[in-house]
Amino acid sequence: MLEPKLMKGYNKMRRTVIAGNWKMNMTPSQAKAFIEELRPMVEGMDKCDIVLCVPYVDIAVAVEAAKGSNIHIGAENVHFAKSGAYTGEISADMLNEIGCEYVVIGHSERRQYFAETDETVNLRTKAALAAGLKVILCLGEVKEERLAGITDEVVSMQTKLDLAGVSAEELKNVIIAYEPVWAIGTGLTATPEQADETCGVIRATIAKLYGAEAADEITIQYGGSMNDANAAELLSKANVDGGLIGGASLKTDKFTTIVKAAN
Ligand code: 13P
Repeated sequence: MLEPKLMKGYNKMRRTVIAGNWKMNMTPSQAKAFIEELRPMVEGMDKCDIVLCVPYVDIAVAVEAAKGSNIHIGAENVHFAKSGAYTGEISADMLNEIGCEYVVIGHSERRQYFAETDETVNLRTKAALAAGLKVILCLGEVKEERLAGITDEVVSMQTKLDLAGVSAEELKNVIIAYEPVWAIGTGLTATPEQADETCGVIRATIAKLYGAEAADEITIQYGGSMNDANAAELLSKANVDGGLIGGASLKTDKFTTIVKAAN
């Protein structure tokens, strides 16, 4: 196996992906205005994939506003059933039909506030992949776990459980977002070294599960207070192949600076 950094810079084995996660922000008209403003700002920046994961009701408007640009649209969650009596839920087929390409699954806010478990994250992941969506699978340790020195075990276990039953072929449509829970929305960022090391642990787990080539190819993002000021340093790390950005993805200038750093 080649040294990961060489693979990254040289062969472009893996894509850098800069994704915004808007969370519960932006109405459809705000989403339209945002994307119309962002389009010319990121035009031609093709050394990374640009994704905006938006609230369900914004998706159709966002897809339309991004048409013909290098901006891709994703959802923030998806249900695992194909259809049925699940009031308030949205299926992968529904997302597909309106032009949604990506979906965030397993975000820590879903795990914390909406009782998501590794089991439901796994079910959602498999359903999304079966429908042809690209999955941004989020995982990461809470503060107590980092302080107890069990971060590596936690992220490795989450990787295994969340991807159980996902084939090597399907894995090509998976991006992993390493998001230390203590760094989300807190202004506390993992140091570039911490981000690199833990993304490396996730990559090593992928190597064990799927082999060295799959580990070299998979995009692993960092998320947690990534912003226009710290993105370049985080993205310079060998194992950090992009970012999943919350707060800073709500401002076109900040988000553009992050995309620029990835270019
Ligand atoms: P912040 O960038 O606001 O910390 O959020 C990170 C995040 O949760 C992205 O999914």
